[in-house]
Amino acid sequence: MDISLAKQNLEKNGYLNVDFDPSLDLFAEIDKLKKEKNAVILAHYYQEPDIQDIADYIGDSLGLAQNAARTEADIIVFAGVHFMAETAKILNPGKKVLLPDLRAGCSLSDSCPPGLFKTFKDKHPDHLVISYINCSAGIKALSDIICTSSNAQAIVESLPADQKIIFAPDKNLGGYINKVTGRNMLLWNGACMVHEIFSLEKITRLKVRHPEAKLIAHPECEDAVLQIADFIGSTTQLLKYTKEDSASSFIVATESGILHTMRLNMPGKTFIAAPPDNACACNDCPHMKLNTLEKLYLCLKFELPEITMDEDLRLAAKKPIDRMLQLSEQLGIGG
Ligand code: 13P
Ligand code: SF4
Repeated sequence: MDISLAKQNLEKNGYLNVDFDPSLDLFAEIDKLKKEKNAVILAHYYQEPDIQDIADYIGDSLGLAQNAARTEADIIVFAGVHFMAETAKILNPGKKVLLPDLRAGCSLSDSCPPGLFKTFKDKHPDHLVISYINCSAGIKALSDIICTSSNAQAIVESLPADQKIIFAPDKNLGGYINKVTGRNMLLWNGACMVHEIFSLEKITRLKVRHPEAKLIAHPECEDAVLQIADFIGSTTQLLKYTKEDSASSFIVATESGILHTMRLNMPGKTFIAAPPDNACACNDCPHMKLNTLEKLYLCLKFELPEITMDEDLRLAAKKPIDRMLQLSEQLGIGG
């Protein structure tokens, strides 16, 4: 297939949907293409196991942004969702940034449209805007500092106590940071569909059945779940905790992709996915899981779909990301 046909195919589907030999060893082919093209694969912990296994770097949102900022590769294949690949492009205008499926969005990012947020922000001109990295470039461009779940608390605490702050878009993370810092940040009413759907009732039943297990939760979860958690942290912090804590089993209240790395890192420990309030036993992010090994192979082969961005928007969105990266370095926080 030539590139113009590939582009037509992409336009129709949002990803490359091309027939190829099913007996291909995709791991070997991706490895070969990566070397030929000087490409790097950055993957989030919520990606499917095969993608995590082939990635050059797996991390949380902060680690991925830090890695994207220092890579020397010519092509970045971002196995994550759109706002993550967009952040990599904002930091690397000269590099090609690819996302295996362009439709891989984020419900949290979608819950904060830039037009509405600008109206809200304009009503509070004396407030500083801290936005969680799970937002569009349009929201980043309206923000003063970006944060992730790894550095949100430290960034807020680095500001004067009387500084008025708007926190967007995640009301759960914002509420949690208000609680641990004693601040009273004004919260945008956004949330992640994956972390909001955990069932308190089913988690409570699991805790009763596994009294030895510790409940660990991502701060995007609702307050009721956070209140009964033994530990709260970003994906990297959750992984670290399960390595260092003496408990041998954990109920994990975040997207279930992370269980793959947890089980690989600590084969002797037991990890139980916290159940959502539906018929499923574990909780997959439908956006993250749009990426597959097949799409990753095709995206590297055809160098499509590519993230592109208006230069003025990129420059405006870069400022608060740079501020986050500088603050993280000063505060000694890595993802
Ligand atoms: P972290 O990996 O930064 O904790 O973020 C979780 C998340 O929801 C990414 O979409
Ligand atoms: Fe967005 Fe939630 Fe999916 Fe993360 S898990 S990409 S916040 S919808």
